[in-house]
Amino acid sequence: MAIQSITITQPDDWHVHLRDGAMLQQVAGYTARQFGRAIIMPNLTPPVTTAAMAAAYRDRIKAATADYPDFEPLMTAYLTDDMDPEEIVRGHADGVFTAAKLYPANATTNSAAGVTDVKKIYAVLEAMQRMGMPLLVHGEVVNDAIDVFDREAAFIDQVMQPLLKDLPELKVVFEHITTQDAADFVTAGDEHLAATITVHHLQINRNDMLVGGIKPHLYCLPIAKRELHRQALRRAATSGSGKFFLGTDTAPHAIGDKESACGCAGIFSAPQALENYLQVFEEEGALDRFEGFASLYGPAFYGLPVNDKKVTLSKAKQVVPERMGQGPLTVVPYRSGQTLVWQLQGE
Ligand code: NCD
Ligand code: ZN
Repeated sequence: MAIQSITITQPDDWHVHLRDGAMLQQVAGYTARQFGRAIIMPNLTPPVTTAAMAAAYRDRIKAATADYPDFEPLMTAYLTDDMDPEEIVRGHADGVFTAAKLYPANATTNSAAGVTDVKKIYAVLEAMQRMGMPLLVHGEVVNDAIDVFDREAAFIDQVMQPLLKDLPELKVVFEHITTQDAADFVTAGDEHLAATITVHHLQINRNDMLVGGIKPHLYCLPIAKRELHRQALRRAATSGSGKFFLGTDTAPHAIGDKESACGCAGIFSAPQALENYLQVFEEEGALDRFEGFASLYGPAFYGLPVNDKKVTLSKAKQVVPERMGQGPLTVVPYRSGQTLVWQLQGE
């Protein structure tokens, strides 16, 4: 008989957009209910570029997750061309900045202030390398001449390879990888290189987004690729390699910003993230490798202890709500209206 429940060390989410203000209030609890810790993306408006801003944002997140007092937001710095290395060094030493995020300028939502040329921030990256502070990379080139489906593969050649060569001991997380090229590149890399994989890139390909009508709620960046890439990501995630770990990239946008003539990129996957990941591992016959991916490899890469708590997921059907939230902030969750086979057990 198929397995009916699984108990593992509490997972962490190594890539989350919690937003701010009313949206933060609305969505933060979903991440805090599922995960022990979460790496919080800094792409607010204005972006989180100083330790003081990050500390204040952390306080707002703690307030918004008061129902889950053990939940620990891990803050990141948004790197800009003129970032002062001292700010990063001090912020990391003070325990505010866990990592720093590199957005190529204009690559994605709220990235206009991102880095125009990685060479401009080498002083910052050298300081991070010395401190063992991870660099989190949105790995897509921004170039009108490069097809949107090719932007991740182009980034490997144009940016990632030279970066790793120049800073061989910098810890780098290739965030939300979407291609076989990236999976192969990370597999071949040394222990300083790892990658997060979202649940939606394990479950959908570009047909799901585009065939039979455009599905704005499956549009995200990096954009979902063709099926062979999804298969490669599933192999990487379930391989048992410590270089691949969980990062949802949950990125809520109000329904009006998604269902629009110019819809925003981002998938709101927080509420049932673990259930969906676990379904993938079960489908791949890799239930025994789920705990490593979800709970062990991320902390090992970041140099943090694993969570003490255990969580249990059981075989129990649940239907994902069509919509969540109120009024103009209504959001459509990932797999809305669909029936999931696993359910995370409550406290
Ligand atoms: C993210 C967002 O909305 O902030 N969107 C997305 O499609 N993933 C930004 C990002 O991580 O690229
Ligand atoms: Zn993201």
